[in-house]
Amino acid sequence: MYYQNILETIGNTPLVKLNKVVAGVPALVLGKIETFNPGHSIKDRMALKMLEDAEKRGDIKPGGTIIECTSGNTGMGLAIAAAVRGYRCIFTTNDKQSKEKIDMLKAVGAEVIVCPTNVESADPRSYYSVSERLSKEIPNSFWCNQYDNPSNRQAHYESTGPEIWEQTEGKITHLVVGVGTGGTISGAGKYLKEKNTNMKIWGIDTYGSVFKKFHETGKFDENEIYPYITEGIGEDVLPKNVDFSIIDHFEKVTDKDGAVMARRIAREEGILLGYSAGSAIAGLVQMKDRLSKEDVVVVIFHDHGSRYIGKIFNDDWMRERGFLDAELKVKDLIAMKADAGFVSVQATETVRDTFNIMKEKDLSQLPVMDNGNMIGSVTESAVLTYLLENPLNNTEKKVKTIMSKPFPVVAEDLAFSQLGKYISREIPAVVAKDKAGQLHVLTKYDIIRAV
Ligand SMILES: Cc1ncc(COP(=O)(O)O)c(C=O)c1O
Repeated sequence: MYYQNILETIGNTPLVKLNKVVAGVPALVLGKIETFNPGHSIKDRMALKMLEDAEKRGDIKPGGTIIECTSGNTGMGLAIAAAVRGYRCIFTTNDKQSKEKIDMLKAVGAEVIVCPTNVESADPRSYYSVSERLSKEIPNSFWCNQYDNPSNRQAHYESTGPEIWEQTEGKITHLVVGVGTGGTISGAGKYLKEKNTNMKIWGIDTYGSVFKKFHETGKFDENEIYPYITEGIGEDVLPKNVDFSIIDHFEKVTDKDGAVMARRIAREEGILLGYSAGSAIAGLVQMKDRLSKEDVVVVIFHDHGSRYIGKIFNDDWMRERGFLDAELKVKDLIAMKADAGFVSVQATETVRDTFNIMKEKDLSQLPVMDNGNMIGSVTESAVLTYLLENPLNNTEKKVKTIMSKPFPVVAEDLAFSQLGKYISREIPAVVAKDKAGQLHVLTKYDIIRAV
């Protein structure tokens, strides 16, 4: 058995039970893994539908040009469809998007025009306006406009919704979906509510987006709009594809919580997913008290984690945004230290030499070594006390006579938060061994700086 072309493989994605990341949620939680689509996102479904509907209406004819403003997933779906059906693709995107995403669209034959991010959508330079203008200038072109094009939500009404109903044998009670254009939640949600009027449809929103406030108050509040980092969900406009009447609740999730959860899903469930999947599960966990063990929750996972390797799956990127402190490890602390060298003193060296090393290196404590083994430790205050108590010519005494117990040795994978168990007034530092076998002293000061 084989397919006639790659477009026939769109849809029928698997539903997979989540285990560890939803351990605190009483319900059965199933992920709809849309990364199995050929463009690695749910957007393949609506991209093909927008194109087919345009063909049926005669809005685009063979050899024509598909135009869309897209930051990635819709563009990928359209580019795949265009390759198979023989269309040219021009996408406008904004300069917030990573080079990898733009190169990926080019790899499947699309032309990409990068527009400035920090302009209003009505500004002629915005990626929205440029798309609109190109669609007027280029003959036999079709601007998909996923935000307002009803084919977007219809795709999910016809495919995503029925698949979920059949895969759960009608047992689904809650659908949880990150909301961007609104196509997924409105289409799939409408189908599922028609099947069971008790169905709960929960939308996931970001801080910096207008959806939740508008849904709860009917007010479009510009004060709700500010830049955020999460990708794919939340908007500063109200797309026609969001059907607020079928959504029961919007839950906002922070940039940090979405990113941290996406990493957990990869590491604990073995499913490499994008940012909005992390937000969706983080939002579900926030709402766990509204669920019971009889409930069956389906969460849509929109896209693949490979799109975010340089972002949420990159420790430096996470750390720069303050997203990693929850899982900071001893090895992160080692990486943060400017001078990576291990300074110690030999047991046979004198108190005078020890004092000089401390002064020269500006260190307040040192491990004491013997034959490569750490046999003790010495602190600035121990040296000082000794010198004060023995003012006359006693600096030639061996350091081992004044040393204390060795610093505790910790593993580099130890969580940062656990370090408090080792450090005290008497123990001002720990020693960590990295993978290469190199020792590092981590002092109270290093820890405070990391905090
Ligand atoms: C990664 C990601 N998550 C979530 C969404 C939201 O889906 P929808 O536009 O159907 O609301 C999108 C699409 O914009 C997306 O690309």
